[in-house]
Amino acid sequence: MAARSVFRSGLFNDRVAIVTGGATGIGKAITAELLHLGCRVVIASRKAERLEAAAGELSQLISPSSAASITALQCNIRQEDQVRELVASTLRLHGRIDYLVNNGGGQFSSPAANMKLKGWNAVIDTNLTGTFLCCREVYRAWMKDHGGAIVNIIADMWRGFPGMAHTGAARAAVENLTKSLAIEWASSGIRINSIAPGTIFSKTAMENYKELGPMIFQMAVPCIPAKRLGLPEEGTIFSKTAMENYKELGPMIFQMAVPCIPAKRLGFPEEISPAVCFLLSPAASFISGATLKVDAGQSLYDSVWEIPDHSSWPAPPEGENVGALRELMKKLKHKL
Ligand code: ADE
Repeated sequence: MAARSVFRSGLFNDRVAIVTGGATGIGKAITAELLHLGCRVVIASRKAERLEAAAGELSQLISPSSAASITALQCNIRQEDQVRELVASTLRLHGRIDYLVNNGGGQFSSPAANMKLKGWNAVIDTNLTGTFLCCREVYRAWMKDHGGAIVNIIADMWRGFPGMAHTGAARAAVENLTKSLAIEWASSGIRINSIAPGTIFSKTAMENYKELGPMIFQMAVPCIPAKRLGLPEEGTIFSKTAMENYKELGPMIFQMAVPCIPAKRLGFPEEISPAVCFLLSPAASFISGATLKVDAGQSLYDSVWEIPDHSSWPAPPEGENVGALRELMKKLKHKL
């Protein structure tokens, strides 16, 4: 994490920001850049220990002459009363809230067919309802009367999100929520925008991907002639033991994404934080209800999701075009 910025030092002096999920990955980089620009930042997350550690580490970046400060407040954004308390505590501490960055979120990988309702609800609650609650509380308690700027961090879900359908649905909903709030709250002088990062590498994200093992192996099943995972004694690559022992999936998942990124490299949290600072800053004074893709064109390009060869698709309606293609295929076969 680098406490550098292309923006003018002191740009956010005397400003107060709440960054949810501010202890790790993209949230930590956003916090670091805001601090560098003089902001007073409250980082909020569910896990107190990690939050305190991050606040301690980030506070080292603040120079003694800076107006910046960092405070860690534990908050589960799924809980309405805890979000209310986060906002109230920030106001008690700093007397204002200029910026809200909704970065806190979480998901797990699973084919949609295997998702349990509890898991589905947890992801929707965190990513969609948590974002809504933070927006609503900040609006009610401060921004309604004083204005402000909000940035929601969403995801590259433009072509669906196979393998993480729940978070795709939640993030798409947040994009829509952004537009609704941009209109409903415009008369309070509130700007609200989203940022949709591409594949961003961070240590935390890599560790979280470890649980992908089972899904990768399940995905391989259609490609295995026996249509099942192998047994250890069969010596197959896709065995149950291999799956359980698979610890290196984090780096592999990230590597798999690289060919699908026009930049031919992964993105980094420090490449998301400047976009957040821009949208919060006066440079974006006429931007609201927008989503900025920060993905090096990844969403326009390729997908990592492989569709196995199959012949399950419904046949097209019979007609002269289908007949013509059939004849053509027959001729081609004949020639071959
Ligand atoms: N980051 C991920 N999940 C969260 C939650 N429930 N509350 C706050 N931050 C989070």
